Amino acid sequence: MSKHALHLIVVMVSIVAMAGAGLALKARFIPESFGLYGAYRADAIDEEARRAVRHGTNASCFGCHPYEATIHLEGDHTTISCEFCHGTYSDHITDKKKTGTLPVKKGQEITTLCLRCHNTEIKARSTIVIKTVGMPDHLAKQNVKVTHTCNQCHHVHAPLKYINEAKKITGLMEAES
Ligand code: HEC
Ligand code: HEC
Ligand code: HEC
Ligand code: HEC
Repeated sequence: MSKHALHLIVVMVSIVAMAGAGLALKARFIPESFGLYGAYRADAIDEEARRAVRHGTNASCFGCHPYEATIHLEGDHTTISCEFCHGTYSDHITDKKKTGTLPVKKGQEITTLCLRCHNTEIKARSTIVIKTVGMPDHLAKQNVKVTHTCNQCHHVHAPLKYINEAKKITGLMEAES
């Protein structure tokens, strides 16, 4: 045996030992259902499907809130989800009964909420899709203090409701059409 053979044996034995350890760890840590349908854990499909549904649709709110529903459906916010502004259905309703209170924003919180969608500063959003306003310019243009909150002029559920009514009264709408 040459005096270098021992080195080779050590290297080869180490490689075999490491490969064995690798295979043992793989068998230990890969979940049982992995690879059944593809390179993922097959059990994950059932687990996800079993998760309780948390969100409703707007229609799921209408039955119990006919007043808000009517206003919402007639205004410019029809396409907006009630839950975007109020939170999740399942925090409010269980088995068709009220089991929790949803947050209702007030004052400046409402302004913050509106500006999440309508702020001109959000450059990535096309103003063709959604009209935006710059602050405080929008309030300055209306000659009101910057402490005015959006809902002092815009109905939260139908934002042009009051404004159109006011225009009708002042005859502006008739003059336009
Ligand atoms: C753009 C956000 C927004 C959307 C969309 C929205 N709401 Fe509201 N809602 C509010 C705000 C803000 C208030 C509080 C109004 C205020 O104080 O002037 C409110 C008030 C309410 C209230 C009265 C709560 C109370 O106790 O005073 C109910 C009920 C309600 N909304 C239900 C709904 C339903 C149902 C929908 C969908 C059809 C909906 N809302 C869609 C923002 C929204
Ligand atoms: C099974 C009936 C029912 C359904 C469905 C329902 N609500 Fe309500 N909700 C109530 C009752 C009852 C109240 C308390 C009395 C009231 O304000 O009319 C309430 C109150 C509220 C309030 C005031 C804050 C509070 O929790 O007391 C908001 C906001 C609200 N609901 C929004 C919604 C939204 C948004 C949906 C749909 C995702 C919805 N509700 C679905 C019955 C319902
Ligand atoms: C989740 C995003 C979202 C939120 C939050 C939101 N809006 Fe809207 N708003 C829209 C969309 C979408 C439209 C319909 C497209 C449009 O006309 O810009 C709209 C329409 C409007 C319009 C009519 C614009 C026009 O002349 O056609 C006004 C005014 C308005 N919203 C004001 C508000 C106010 C005030 C609030 C806060 C109470 C608010 N919005 C909250 C998305 C939102
Ligand atoms: C003092 C009253 C007043 C307040 C407060 C107010 N607005 Fe307005 N807003 C108006 C009027 C009036 C219009 C013009 C409607 C028109 O010209 O047809 C308007 C128009 C809009 C439009 C449509 C813009 C467009 O290009 O057509 C949006 C969006 C809007 N407001 C959002 C908001 C938001 C968000 C807030 C709170 C930060 C707010 N407004 C606060 C009175 C107000």
